[in-house]
Amino acid sequence: MTVQVTTKEKKVKTWASSRMMRSLQGITALVTGASSGIGKAMARELASHGAHLILVSRNAQRLEQEAEDLRIRFGVATHVFPADLNRPEKRQELFDRILAQGFTVDLLVNNAGLAHYGPFVGSSLEETDEMLTLNVQALTHLTRLFLPGMIERKKGGVLNVASTAGFQPIPNLSVYAATKAFVLNFSEALWEECRGSGVRIFCLCPGNTLTRFHQAAGIDRQRMFFSASAADVARFGLKKFLHSGRPSGIYGFWNKLMIYAERLSPRRLTVFVTGLMYRSGKKPAV
Ligand SMILES: NC(=O)c1ccc[n+]([C@@H]2O[C@H](COP(=O)([O-])OP(=O)(O)OC[C@H]3O[C@@H](n4cnc5c(N)ncnc54)[C@H](OP(=O)(O)O)[C@@H]3O)[C@@H](O)[C@H]2O)c1
Repeated sequence: MTVQVTTKEKKVKTWASSRMMRSLQGITALVTGASSGIGKAMARELASHGAHLILVSRNAQRLEQEAEDLRIRFGVATHVFPADLNRPEKRQELFDRILAQGFTVDLLVNNAGLAHYGPFVGSSLEETDEMLTLNVQALTHLTRLFLPGMIERKKGGVLNVASTAGFQPIPNLSVYAATKAFVLNFSEALWEECRGSGVRIFCLCPGNTLTRFHQAAGIDRQRMFFSASAADVARFGLKKFLHSGRPSGIYGFWNKLMIYAERLSPRRLTVFVTGLMYRSGKKPAV
């Protein structure tokens, strides 16, 4: 059965896509994980294009410093909401406080994320839960809270930060890579669901980026292949969010080459190579 698209529906779609965000000037963007690394760079890039900001992470002091710096350098309005996004009630509180203060979030940047390195059976349940909760549940919950308003206003966007890990099974980062596969698939599906609504969804897939991430995860720096700066990754992500017609984008030539080559390779070869790259030297401890 073919679905007939009426002229009226076509007009609505064209009108909605003509309202798609084309510039960051004057928008309000909420960035999670804005106290460090890619999130901090994202906030700077947004501010440099005239976007007002709501910065979220646990570390209130770092957020305040960053907000003050952005206010002075770029003259944009910046607000900080310190919150542990692993606590569901804090995500709801964040949403409620934003509504109560009369802000409209035009762009949600779901960036906060973390990894724990090492064999799965040697990891604690707390480490696994922390990754699943922050990388998957918090991102999904925040999207669920903010996206309906954007659809209603026929304007806005969600930029989710996944990783090249989302395309690969990675021994010793098994849960982390699986969470990023979720982010990638979830975002690409939403991209299709939101097409024609005036709301843009984009999934940024960075490879190794020079931030606190590896140290926090317990990954030694020798494992950092083709490292990029957080500023370059953030600039790429926002540019693609605004102008790419695609649901996702991989940062960097070598990262793209690696992922495309893996797509043509047998799966067991991929996992053998990523296993070599992220070999831990530790025996799985039960
Ligand atoms: N660096 C890389 O090589 C790389 C590569 C691919 C993808 N990524 C992805 O990029 C994103 C950003 O990572 P990054 O490299 O910028 O790491 P980062 O420098 O460690 O930054 C992580 C951010 O997340 C925040 N955060 C951590 N736990 C949180 C929680 N429970 N609630 C609220 N905020 C929390 C941290 O702030 P507080 O400590 O103040 O809470 C920090 O601002 C992550 O999703 C990561 O998976 C990173």
